[in-house]
Amino acid sequence: MTATAHVGVTGLAVMGRNLARNLARNGYTVAVHNRTPARTNALVEQFGDEGTFVPADSAKELVASLQRPRRLIIMVQAGDPTDAVIDELAPLLDPGDVLVDGGNAHFTDTRRREAALRARGIHFAGVGISGGEEGALHGPSIMSGGSKEAYQLLSPLLDDIAATAPDGARTVAHLGPDGAGHFVKMVHNGIEYADMQLITEAYHLLRHTAGYEPSQIAEIFRTWNTGRLNSYLIEVTAEVLAHTDPSTGLPFVDIVADRAGQKGTGRWTVQTALDLGTPVSGIAQAVFARSLSSQDTLREAGRTLLGPTRRVLGSQDAARFADQVEQALYAAKVVSYDQGFHQIRTASDTYQWDVDLATVAALWRAGCIIRADFLDRIRDAYTAEPRLTSLLRDPHFAEEIGQAQWAWRAVAATAARDGVPAPGMSAALAHFDTLRTERLPAALIQGQRDYFGAHTYQRTDQDGSFHTDWAGDRTEHRTR
Ligand code: 6PG
Repeated sequence: MTATAHVGVTGLAVMGRNLARNLARNGYTVAVHNRTPARTNALVEQFGDEGTFVPADSAKELVASLQRPRRLIIMVQAGDPTDAVIDELAPLLDPGDVLVDGGNAHFTDTRRREAALRARGIHFAGVGISGGEEGALHGPSIMSGGSKEAYQLLSPLLDDIAATAPDGARTVAHLGPDGAGHFVKMVHNGIEYADMQLITEAYHLLRHTAGYEPSQIAEIFRTWNTGRLNSYLIEVTAEVLAHTDPSTGLPFVDIVADRAGQKGTGRWTVQTALDLGTPVSGIAQAVFARSLSSQDTLREAGRTLLGPTRRVLGSQDAARFADQVEQALYAAKVVSYDQGFHQIRTASDTYQWDVDLATVAALWRAGCIIRADFLDRIRDAYTAEPRLTSLLRDPHFAEEIGQAQWAWRAVAATAARDGVPAPGMSAALAHFDTLRTERLPAALIQGQRDYFGAHTYQRTDQDGSFHTDWAGDRTEHRTR
């Protein structure tokens, strides 16, 4: 087999197939391979007119078709399937070749794989690719990890296939070594969960308390999409709410089973945050809300629990409430994004990745699922102050949230009074108020812990750790 291909893609499910098409459409000769050859043949038959594909029936043929240094993209399921493909390909590669994992791999797997392949002289880059099947075909947001040397070999390709932000910049970058790219993609997905949860809470309040129909709420979302909430997820939500089920004539949202699925990247974000000690309460509430929605037995048991009777606002109050919901949604969204960026910063410091948060925000302005206008503002905030402790301290966001908080509080209170679950909006408000609080009740937790577990505490007026003799004369002793 003559080595004519500039790049290879193995794993031709929707994402892999569309990525291969995107590369071919951009003029690259693309070697394509799938465990079941039928999928490879189907790609070439259906889309062979889009560019030059080199079908390969085996891993050996795939590698032999690639110009050196070889660039080979794996697009298979995360976990064991990815390890299996790496184990099959690595022995066929030479030092200096680049293996890319474009799936949603856990960043710790990527760190392990990168170290193992580096020992064999093979570059391994974990690359987060966001935007779903449409993004893979027309331009995703691309968050690359791996070595700088690997990225030098990949960047011409990735630049050509990435999405383009409104200012013309490509949404692709090298974010840091080893697992940095997959970590940022994981947090992207965590923020995606939080964003979707907040949007659904806004919908629920507009439906239950304001009494609007889905088609009316679709129009409200379309209006919001012309302002500071402009984003792909708001746009998508308006389309879903406007949709009528053809077989029943009912609003589509009313015929869908109210049990949310999750492939797991949001869960990983929360698990990782727990280990890093970073509060991602908005993302956590979103993950738990999805889990609870699928707990049929628990929900069945809860249906008869006493609660407030439904109260629907009159039209004038409903319009005013909708405006308050917009403010609550925006404020809670800023808090959830802030938590996600803080988690990336903490991981970057922990793993010495040196991730630039302004670059991350810039990457998310187009191509990815959480693309949104306000990411320009977030990029500007981190450009102005790269070590900004919290977005809530940025003058622009401080002003906006300072104004929005009164409506935000009213909406959280209304949700509680009306018995409408708004865990995301409420958790974000609690996070905001915790940050604002001079003295937290954590002092009492320390007292409790010392009382029953002699876990010691620190004082506000003296250095060191102390323990009180609760069983005896309650004197306190400095423990070191
Ligand atoms: C993306 C998406 C994608 C994610 C799907 C399903 O960035 O293109 O985030 O990676 O896997 O949206 O995710 P859940 O099943 O976890 O909702």
